[in-house]
This record gives sequence, structure tokens and C-alpha cells, in this order.
Amino acid sequence: MSSKAQNSVPEINRLVIVGLGLIGSSLAIAAREQGLAKTVIGISRRTSTLELALELGVIDRACESLESLASELDFGDLVVIGVPTLSVPSVIAVCHDFLSDRVTITDVASVKGSVVKAVLDIYGNLPVQFVPGHPIAGSEKSGVEAANSQLFKDHRVILTPHNTADCEHLKLVSAVWSSVGAVVSTMSVDEHDSILAATSHLPHFLAYSLVDTLASVGDNREIFRYAAGGFRDFTRIAASDPVMWRDIALANREPILSILDQVMNNFQMLRGAIDKGDQDYLMDVFTRARDARNHFGKLLENKTLQGPMTEKTINYRISPGGDARGSVRVPGDKSMSHRSIMIGSLANGMTEVTGFLEGEDSLATLQAFRDMGVLIEGPDHGRVVIHGVGLHGLKAPVKPLYMGNSGTSIRLLSGLLAGQTFDTELTGDISLSGRPMDRVADPLRSMGAIIDTSAAGTPPLKITGGQSLNPIDYLMPMASAQVKSCVLFAGLYAKGDTSVTEPAPTRDHTERMLRGFGYTVDVSESTAKLTGGGDLSATRIDVPADISSAAFFMVAAAITPGSEINLQHVGINPTRVGVINILRQMGTHISLSNQREVGGEPVADIKVEYGKLKGIDIPTDQVPLAIDEFPVLFIAAACAEGTTTLTGAEELRVKESDRIQSMADGLVTLDIDARSTADGIVIVGGQLGGGHVRSHHDHRIAMAFAIAGLRATDEIVVEGCNNVATSFPNFIDAASAIGLDISVETNHD
Ligand code: S3P
Repeated sequence: MSSKAQNSVPEINRLVIVGLGLIGSSLAIAAREQGLAKTVIGISRRTSTLELALELGVIDRACESLESLASELDFGDLVVIGVPTLSVPSVIAVCHDFLSDRVTITDVASVKGSVVKAVLDIYGNLPVQFVPGHPIAGSEKSGVEAANSQLFKDHRVILTPHNTADCEHLKLVSAVWSSVGAVVSTMSVDEHDSILAATSHLPHFLAYSLVDTLASVGDNREIFRYAAGGFRDFTRIAASDPVMWRDIALANREPILSILDQVMNNFQMLRGAIDKGDQDYLMDVFTRARDARNHFGKLLENKTLQGPMTEKTINYRISPGGDARGSVRVPGDKSMSHRSIMIGSLANGMTEVTGFLEGEDSLATLQAFRDMGVLIEGPDHGRVVIHGVGLHGLKAPVKPLYMGNSGTSIRLLSGLLAGQTFDTELTGDISLSGRPMDRVADPLRSMGAIIDTSAAGTPPLKITGGQSLNPIDYLMPMASAQVKSCVLFAGLYAKGDTSVTEPAPTRDHTERMLRGFGYTVDVSESTAKLTGGGDLSATRIDVPADISSAAFFMVAAAITPGSEINLQHVGINPTRVGVINILRQMGTHISLSNQREVGGEPVADIKVEYGKLKGIDIPTDQVPLAIDEFPVLFIAAACAEGTTTLTGAEELRVKESDRIQSMADGLVTLDIDARSTADGIVIVGGQLGGGHVRSHHDHRIAMAFAIAGLRATDEIVVEGCNNVATSFPNFIDAASAIGLDISVETNHD
């Protein structure tokens, strides 16, 4: 749980900071700057510290002990215990003996278990006024001289309140931290202590140990003279306060010992590999670690992977008007990117992929295969190298595989995992956790797989390994490439021929790519068939630009008079070109050039120019061919003259959001006459207005409403655009480049 920076400034009478170290004095000075309290009082045993704090303007008033101040304190006063971890109990004892239970108390110690234990020992219970806290901020500097009012800005503060904490006290502590710029979260004491043991305590001990080791080697002056960037980066924190870290080591003993054991074990194995010259082991560890660092680095910098987990909400603000001119190469095709990782991992040999989409969805697939022991290098500017392990080479993951927002990952993987010897669990974010999985679980069960879903047929999916799968001839009840691919993937592990017959053509990237890896897939009319038990041979894959991402710019040009947009190297697989057919029928000028075949997939450059749009009845045979493009096609319909009617598209109701309803609601907000029906929508073209619309955590809804800004009369704000990073990480840059006036706002939830 995290809380947004509270806009209301807390009403504190006296803010009392016991201990004027870096954290205590930084909070004091930040509180003074923000006017958070009528008086900021500092308590320290050292007169010199108090004098300095007064001189530097860190506090308003100095006091030598909490005892002497206690009788003045009452409701609305906050005591912050900022002394080193092992000294906290002595301050708590004073609180117990002298403070009224109306005074709020918090602390800033890095270990919460020992603090809570001390409170229990002293009070005999956990008093309602006590809210344990830990700001994850700091530096190797210490003392009142290092006081920095910006120290907590955009840093996390973790509170570990107990069940009986009073909510007024909790609110006050939370508001103080939010007001100095921190992002406040809550968690349990145990969770806090084990997370911090791994992420903060361990790195400090490694840094101390490394510097201490080098300092005791022979002529260490020589060593330190030549120690360059790596040493400096790694050991900065070895300059931290020894008392503080001694206290933390002793106070958080168990979790620290557990993570230290794991690192020592890893060190031993590394040592063994270096000793034996085991190149593969070294490459494995270094590649895994580098990629994990890049992944976490992005999270830390909030550049991408901006899913709900970052606890920031991203909104788009689009000013009305704009040009729609220019040339764009949109990111790689999402469907093909997923499949390249899946099939490449199960192939024998090394597969090089270029043009890979570095979006959160395809990265979720990539991470899942890493979690199952596949060595995957990259992605580096769209290049990924997969060291395939063969159809039977995956290893059991140690934890559930997290699929984020990605329906394609979970559905296709369920087919592959049904054929493994080990158990797996597949989970996802809030949107994925509400999406139907029976469509894959049912056919897999009829092949002999054991799969559990929630009672509602949604994730998590629990797959029991070790089943022998029977082939089936599956008559698919809905037109779904995900279901088709899932069954075909399971068919790789079945004895005999598995076939899938579809009610309407759906994207056929799985069939094409399997063939590219040397696996025979027979396709006749609407049936795709393969025989289990074969082999996949590594190959090269060049992923073209995603027509589903290009669609946003096609519509941008289609609705903007005077426009011309050129889209390069776009995949134009016949099962994906509904958007071109529909826009042409509505009046848009679209021409294809430089048509070619790349790795078994047709590709072209596409020029799109404005033509007066008219409403149409969308032919139902185009629905599966444009299934992902409807949100933005509805924007085209809103700008067309006359009525556009879509039917036969009930599948849109079970995408990342209910796309029929999400779009109908947003269009109505923007003054368009739009009416949802059970299987489609009726849109009467008109003048788009402005307003606040919601994306419902759906990337394509967010981007569609951003494009609407080109023809709106007023500003449009699209709320909740984080998931755009699932399919189109640099959408803002591309949209700005063609002339959209779009900006991004980030809010803490
Ligand atoms: C996809 C298939 C489509 C599409 C999705 C990607 C795929 O879903 O909407 O974005 O890569 O197979 P359905 O197969 O469920 O229609």
C-alpha cells in the first residue's frame, strides 16, 4: 500500500526530534522549511550538537533531554526517535515513563523488529500512539552538518504500523513524511526487515568487508592508488557511520545471516568456476546479473516498467490541434517478440533476434524464460540472443512466473508449461487477474493437462507438471490466436497430431515462426496441424514494426487535414491488416511501398494521408484482422461524417479492459454520441471536445485518446497511462515527433 503525497500540510504543534544525526536533522530542517510545525525542537546529549543545530537553522529550540520536555507535550505533538538503532530502547523507556498517550511517537531506525520488541518489553503492549517508521534515505555523510532538507524527496518511507495503532497517529506520521517529499508505504515488520537485510544491510557489509580486505593486504597504498571507478562505485557506502551499522548488524541478526549465507554460497560457486575455468557458469552468472541490474535500474529510474508497481500514476495531457506529419518507425511487433523468446528458448542452439519489442509485456515473457533457466542476452537496442535449451531443457522456476499485464504471455505459456515435467504457477497484474483463462484451460484439460484457475476462471493458473499429453483436434469456439497458439504449443509435447480449427482467420505468427525454426506445421483452410515430439532448430528472427502500434499514427493522419505520415518496415501479415482495409473503406489514402518478405513475414513501408472520412458498417470479416486496433479506429469513427457501426466484436470486452465500454465512456465524455452494444458499438461522427478520460489500465485506450487530441476543441487529459509501456515504450517521443502536443504528468498514488 502506498500513499500519495498528502496535499494537506499536517497540523503539528511541536515536532520533537530526539537525536540530531543525518536523518533527524534533515527531517528537522525540511519541516522548518515547509512550516510543518509551530516549533521544531531538537534533543541531543551533546551541547555542541545542539548549538550547531541552532546556528545552522536546523531547529527552533534545543533541549537536552526528553524527560525535561515531556510534561509540555500533548495531542498534536510528534516525537521522532532518531538515535542509532541500539539506543532506541532507552528513548522508548523515557517515552513510557514520561509521555502522555496523546503524543504521537515514531522512529527512523533501519531495523523494525528490534524496535517493536523493545516497545513490547517496555510497555507490555504496542501503544496506540506508536508508529514505527523507516525512511530509506541517507548517505555516507553523518551528523547535523550534513542536514539536507531535500534528503527525503522521492525516497520511500516504510511504516510498519501494528493492528491496534490509532489512525490519527498513523495519519500524522504519514502526512509528515509525505510533506517532506517522501513516498510512504506500509508493510509488516518481518517483511521490512528481510527486504532491508538484502537491499541495504548486505551491500553495506560487502562494502565494509571489501575495503577492510584490501586495506589489510601487503602494500595497500599501491592498491588504493590504482583503485579506480569500480572500486569507488562499489565502496562509497563503506564510509558510513560504524556505530549505525554495528547496531543494524546486531539488531537484524537473523535476516542478515540468512542473506549472507546465500551470498557466501554464491561466492563459493563463483570461486569454484574461476578455479576450474568454467566459462559457461561465469557467462551465466554475469549475464543474469547484468540483465537483472538493467531491469532493476530501469525500475529505479522509473524509465520504463512503469506498471502499477511503481506506485506512480502517469497521465497524458494533450493540447488540442497539431500536425500529423513525418516519418516514424514504431517498435517491434509484440506478438512476434513474445513468440521469438518462447520458440527460441525451446530450440536447439542460439537464436539471434533483432527488432525485439522492449515493452513490459514481451519483457515479462523474457523474464519467465530466464526464471526457467534459459540464458538470454539483452535486450540491447532490440537485439536479443537466446541460448536455446531444447524442448525438454527448461528448469523449474523457484517462484511463480509473473506475467504482468500480458494475456499473450500467460495464454501461450500455459500451453508450453502443460507439457513440462515440473509444476508452475502463472500470475499477473490487476487487469490480467480478471481475464478469462478457461479458453485455454479447457482444451488443455482435454489433452490431459492439470490446470487450476480461480473459481471465476481467471489467474493465477496453477499447472501440474509431469502429465503425458494426448493430441486433440480442437474446434476453437472463438477466433483467438492466443488459444490456437496455446494448443499448438501443447501439441509439441503430445504424442501424435494436434490440430486447431478456427472459426475465422486469426494471426498466424506461431505457425510461421515454428516453420522458421524448422518445425512442420500443416495449414489447410482454417486448420493448423502439427505432430508432437519434433525438434526446433535455432534461427535468426528480424521482428518488423508492429502494425498495432503503427495504427495510432495511421489514424492520426486519417483524422488530420493536410497530414502525411510515413511508417517504416511495418509487418503487414494478411491476418493483421484489418486496420488498413477499414481506414481505406472510410476514405483514408493509404499506399504501401517497398513490399518484401523478412523471415517469413511480409513487411512494407506505409504512407497515410488525410481523406475525408465517412462512417461505415465495419465488415465482420475484418474484426479478427483488426482486433487490437479498434480503440483508435473508434477515434477515426468519431471524426467521420455519419455513423460507424461495429458488430461481432464481443472479444473486445475481455481485452486488457472492456474496450467497448472504456471507449464508449471516454467518447461520451468528449461529446461524441457513442453507444455500446453487446458485441460492438455505434458511433455518430461529430466534434471531439475536451475533458478527462480514463484508460482503465489499458495501453491501447490511453494511446487512442491521446491521438484524439489532434481533432479536439479543448485539452484532453488521459488518466492512468502507465501501461503504455507494455507495448509502446517511447510513444510520447513518437507522438511528439509527428506533431502532437502531448505532455506527461506523474503523480504518486
Ligand atoms: C495476440 C492475439 C490477440 C491480440 C493480442 C495478441 C497474440 O488476442 O488481441 O493482443 O499475440 O496471439 P486473441 O487471440 O485473444 O484475440
